[in-house]
Amino acid sequence: MESIGWGILATGKIAHEFARDLALVPGARLAAVGSRRPESARAFADQHGAAAAYGSYAELVADPTVDVVYIATPHALHLDNARLCFEAGKHVLCEKPLALDTAAAAEMGRLAGEHDRFLMEAMWMACHPVIRELRERLGSGELGAPRQLHAELGSRVDAGPDDRMFDPALGASALLDIGIYPLTFAQLMLGPVERLTATADLSDRGIDLDIAIAGRYPGGALATMTASITSYSSRRAEIGTSTGRIDLDDFHHPAKAVFTPYAEGEGSWVVEPGEPVEILGAEPIIGQGYGNEIAEVGRCLREGLRESPLVPHEQTLALMRQMDELRAQVGVSFS
Ligand SMILES: NC(=O)c1ccc[n+]([C@@H]2O[C@H](COP(=O)([O-])OP(=O)(O)OC[C@H]3O[C@@H](n4cnc5c(N)ncnc54)[C@H](OP(=O)(O)O)[C@@H]3O)[C@@H](O)[C@H]2O)c1
Repeated sequence: MESIGWGILATGKIAHEFARDLALVPGARLAAVGSRRPESARAFADQHGAAAAYGSYAELVADPTVDVVYIATPHALHLDNARLCFEAGKHVLCEKPLALDTAAAAEMGRLAGEHDRFLMEAMWMACHPVIRELRERLGSGELGAPRQLHAELGSRVDAGPDDRMFDPALGASALLDIGIYPLTFAQLMLGPVERLTATADLSDRGIDLDIAIAGRYPGGALATMTASITSYSSRRAEIGTSTGRIDLDDFHHPAKAVFTPYAEGEGSWVVEPGEPVEILGAEPIIGQGYGNEIAEVGRCLREGLRESPLVPHEQTLALMRQMDELRAQVGVSFS
């Protein structure tokens, strides 16, 4: 595969962001876009330079120049969209969350296996150079043992009741849309979760608008995480370790992480911070960071892999199980 032909399925907000980053990735070309609305496909293709524009998803997946399809529809539709792609012989990168629940995500994995196709959740955070570097250095022990993590993400959403952000039929949920990021960050930095507890505020249609989560991770590390679609958060993350503190001003789009070591205590409660150390990625951030996941999919396809080691199916399923459990605790159900 000299260059990878991408098809973009749906022309909503994130599809535009993705297309902008795709143009920056060597060896990736935008082969086609598909939309329920032909005029939207045409406008998207003109804006981003797609070679073909289709007024249906079925036509998109039938295009022989498309190697891999990026699914950018609301979560409730991901499974059906992925099935369409696999049955047409396409590989799939599917937006997060992979599906509404673990059962649907597992079914998607089963379909990928049955058709021998690549499948990856678009959890671009796990492909982000700064996050990868921080994870590696934390795992090596050089930054001390992680004990406390806090991550918060939220932004007020102004949209009508039919928008996917508020419509339960489309999988609306602050947890599924936003909370998946602090949960993933904690999982990447601390390891597989042992216990999660949540409290939430629900809309009158029964979706979670705000959620606060506490988690326990291996070795007794603890995390507090929040997600909101009604308020603006700092987007910060902090990890307190046995030898210092790690700060990310925006863990969702980090330019860097900063480790501040603390000197050995000398019998005083006041411990002076040492010189901060910047942690940058080993590779450049491509565009907004979606480019790094696009490059990772290209690498996997060229190597004939069916899943990415950066976002393995089991990691995606582990997060889906966590979100199923949290939704049960706060009383949110899609059925
Ligand atoms: N990775 C990230 O940073 C990130 C950021 C935001 C969202 N996301 C994820 O990406 C997905 C899409 O989010 P978005 O914000 O781009 O949503 P959006 O702006 O509402 O766009 C969704 C698109 O899906 C298509 N669609 C098909 N059936 C639909 C239906 N019944 N109702 C509404 N839209 C339908 C439409 O495209 P056509 O009309 O062209 O077919 C629509 O434009 C979600 O799963 C979300 O969690 C990821």
